[in-house]
Amino acid sequence: MAIASKVQRCIEGSSWIRKMFEEGARLRAIHGDDQVFDFTIGNPSVEPPEAFRRELLQLAAQPLPGMHRYMSNAGFEETRAAVAAAVSKRGQTRVNAEQVVMTCGAGAALNVILKTILNPGDEVIILAPYFVEYKFYVDNHGGTTKAVWTNRDTFQLDLPAIAAAISAQTKAIIINSPNNPTGVIYPQADLCALAALLAVKEKEFNQTIYVISDEPYARLAYDGHQVPPIFDCIQNSIIATSHSKDLALPGERIGYIAANPQLDEVTSFIDGAIFCNRVLGFVNAPALMQRLVAKLQEESVDINEYQQKRDLLYNHLTALGFTLTKPDGAFYLFPRSPLADDIAFVNLAQEEKILLVPGTGFGAPGYFRIAYCIDINIIRRSFPAWERLAKKCGLS
Ligand SMILES: Cc1ncc(COP(=O)(O)O)c(C=O)c1O
Repeated sequence: MAIASKVQRCIEGSSWIRKMFEEGARLRAIHGDDQVFDFTIGNPSVEPPEAFRRELLQLAAQPLPGMHRYMSNAGFEETRAAVAAAVSKRGQTRVNAEQVVMTCGAGAALNVILKTILNPGDEVIILAPYFVEYKFYVDNHGGTTKAVWTNRDTFQLDLPAIAAAISAQTKAIIINSPNNPTGVIYPQADLCALAALLAVKEKEFNQTIYVISDEPYARLAYDGHQVPPIFDCIQNSIIATSHSKDLALPGERIGYIAANPQLDEVTSFIDGAIFCNRVLGFVNAPALMQRLVAKLQEESVDINEYQQKRDLLYNHLTALGFTLTKPDGAFYLFPRSPLADDIAFVNLAQEEKILLVPGTGFGAPGYFRIAYCIDINIIRRSFPAWERLAKKCGLS
């Protein structure tokens, strides 16, 4: 075999989302687009805010000299300053441009952070159910992951379980709120309790334990919920995020890292992150997008549309007898699988042309994920299929 055996193994074993997406394409080719209910992919169903198009047209009409050239690996100063101001606005902690590095989305931000902090064999705690790419990202940089379950009903932090998992090898913990796949938001009190726990462990093991806060869904919070500002809660925290969801720009690959100004040795962390952004081959975040998002820090997609879809589907599924926590954010539902085997359930759903991702794909067998960021008419049209599926599983 020509390619690395590890990569081959990963391709074969890892991507449920990709597998289900391909199945969707196959079924659509047979039955037609409107007969397949594809809930597999977390791709925004809304368009970027109007201000995005306005700024894009303005930039095209009045180009800045040299605007497509290289810049500092950290990004344009004006963009870093705009991001720093927006992050500062979320809480009490004042962030400045020097603590911000612009990246090619949250995926790149996570890789840059992990490369910057990990020594070979360092452990990173991830919380099940988790975004599966975390495992690969940590492995990219010589670390190992240790999965710790959140509460199996509420998906909130299980602090005693986290405490038990921390060892002398623990370098970081990745949290993601609002969460993919569960949609939960961690409340401020729990984040502060996590901070207290980490402070004790940092003392015990005489080392920094970083909290990497993966926040691409931070603005997708419903019913008036707010995502608590991580910097106000946890000293050694770093934000990895993007505008993939809040401005609906996942294809444009624009995001950033922001370090808590109180972070241990914050300057060397940022120097490291700038270097890693370069040597990972990202070099810098896309120039055009940096110019635009500098102007769009107050903008967001219309989250009412997502909230409406969440409510529609949540109400229908609970009425049919599915068990699920009502999520406060992101655009996912994560119900319990009515069959003990979540893969068997997903296969059964496929017979009704409902495409889902099994919890197994998120390190959480016994559940399944619905990405409801799809056309609301498809959601409505899927209801009879859900009813048949519920009956087949002995619900309702
Ligand atoms: C939890 C989580 N983190 C990170 C990412 C990566 O996002 P980006 O498009 O900004 O790389 C995603 C994308 O779906 C995600 O769900």
